Amino acid sequence: MGLRYTVAITGASGSAFGVALLKRLSSNPAVERVTLLLSPTGKRCLLDETGLTPKELAALPKVELHDERDLGAAISSGSYRQDGMVLIPCSAGALGRIAAGVSETLVSRAADVCLKERHPLVLCLRETPLNRIHLENMLRVHDAGAVVMPIMPGFYSHPTTMHDLFDTFATRVLDQLGLREEDPRRWKG
Ligand SMILES: Cc1cc2nc3c(=O)[nH]c(=O)nc-3n(C[C@H](O)[C@H](O)[C@H](O)COP(=O)(O)O)c2cc1C
Repeated sequence: MGLRYTVAITGASGSAFGVALLKRLSSNPAVERVTLLLSPTGKRCLLDETGLTPKELAALPKVELHDERDLGAAISSGSYRQDGMVLIPCSAGALGRIAAGVSETLVSRAADVCLKERHPLVLCLRETPLNRIHLENMLRVHDAGAVVMPIMPGFYSHPTTMHDLFDTFATRVLDQLGLREEDPRRWKG
């Protein structure tokens, strides 16, 4: 059985990081399906920052786009077999909803399901500076089992393009999902 993941692009700057991760999951032979979710502001940021539409992302192999309002989707249920979920970028709003257990959208419900089923949940937060509420929410989701992985790409591999930054960060997110890929940009000591 192939691996199944969910990727949510929420309303924060940095949707290109989400696109890079989606491409890497889509091209990984071990992956069977990637469920893609976009919040309304996520769609807007995606178009503003990358010029891409959700439909274009859904054209990638194995990617299935779901309506964020459809709480009846398979990923809403703990009985759905899946191997993890990533919010990338993750808005402070999405973080707050997950930390509070508010599951009124498919993104927050699917994340809630990952926490209760003990599936990997990676939150690539993109906000700066951080207020006390953000910091407390990060601790809450961490304690509930999520990995808080703010979008902070490394510079030790001497990136020369934006794509290098997106892709090295994607490698680190894949590590969190248990998909360890070769990447010449890893630190070699
Ligand atoms: C153009 C634009 C950029 C935004 N950038 C950020 C951001 O970088 N980080 C953040 O936490 N919120 C950002 N926001 C605010 C969130 O999109 C807003 O709080 C939204 O309600 C989050 O909901 P969502 O997680 O369902 O997308 C931005 C909003 C807009 C319109």
